[in-house]
Amino acid sequence: GTPDLDASKLTIETTATPKPLLDPKELIFGRTFSDHMLSVEWTAQDGWLAPRITPYQNLSLDPSTCVLHYAFTCFEGMKAYKDADSRIRLFRPDRNMHRLNRSAARIALPTFSSDAFISLISRFVNLEQRFIPSQKGYSLYLRPTLIGTQKTLGVGPPGSALLFVIASPVGPYYPTGFKAVTLEATEHAVRAWPGGVGDRKLGANYAPCIVPQIDASRRGFQQNLWLFGEEGYVTEVGTMNMFVAWVNEDGVKELITAPLDGTILEGVTRESVLALARERLPAEGWKISERKYTIAEVKKAAEEGRLLEGFGTGTAAVVSPVKGITWRGQNIEVPLSPGKETGPLAQKFWDWMCEIQYGETKHDWSYVV
Ligand code: COI
Repeated sequence: GTPDLDASKLTIETTATPKPLLDPKELIFGRTFSDHMLSVEWTAQDGWLAPRITPYQNLSLDPSTCVLHYAFTCFEGMKAYKDADSRIRLFRPDRNMHRLNRSAARIALPTFSSDAFISLISRFVNLEQRFIPSQKGYSLYLRPTLIGTQKTLGVGPPGSALLFVIASPVGPYYPTGFKAVTLEATEHAVRAWPGGVGDRKLGANYAPCIVPQIDASRRGFQQNLWLFGEEGYVTEVGTMNMFVAWVNEDGVKELITAPLDGTILEGVTRESVLALARERLPAEGWKISERKYTIAEVKKAAEEGRLLEGFGTGTAAVVSPVKGITWRGQNIEVPLSPGKETGPLAQKFWDWMCEIQYGETKHDWSYVV
């Protein structure tokens, strides 16, 4: 085959005009970017070319470039954290690489060596380390992106591609502590379906979700809850995976999330929360389940006083507590801890994840660059 990604071929051109750093308190998610970007071009003929770090700059794309017409684009979201000893850490970067390769393969874009890309990202975040705020809760959000760059309106596999990474310093999603959200269950639109691509992080999965989100927000809800099918299976919340905790019909405390049946994004936070739950919660009597569950079951649990908690998980927010769901005009109240904006489980997962991400507890998932 053609050459794979080769981190040893990296060239670095640093900026002559370093950007001033913003006061971390002023940061808005995804609005400002670091000094540089990492780029690697690929062609069908020559494979992956030499990786480059250059000053952050515009892309120049011919108007016929296939990404602009047929959505040959997939991406990742990951974060670089600064620990108490100023070491830089990534969180499970291998999971992001695995997922990006799976996304790429699904839309006829080239795959790459995960190890080589992690090593390139490590070089990049090292160079950009002044953009990683040291305060806990802050991080440098990384956006690896892969696009098809062939200039053609012909519908076919792109003969050229560009893999790039940009970085945006971000503050905590909840600067003043958790703020539990209300959800509107969406029934007039579907996010993903069996045999579709809802389990891949394709750009094309995100644009169609905005209008239902705006509809929900016009009616006063912070997020929408994605259901599937006549049964009303609960799938995801906004751009996050969804978890519910209840006492099930057998009287057992159960933490439940939808299974990876092809319609659910394989969230790294989802996978990590499940692993921590399976390791640490059974001792407290919890059953951990990846299985389908319906909004009607959630409503019934709430009515019978069995609903314990609901929360979303994602890289951006980590954990996002839910306080209510409106479905067909009926309100399902989701409990929180007394006087708090979170329930006990969501709080626990947030604490456990942050301890690992910021290197406060030693764990294999935290990768020192
Ligand atoms: C998340 O981290 O929850 C995401 O889905 C990333 C979002 C900005 C697309």
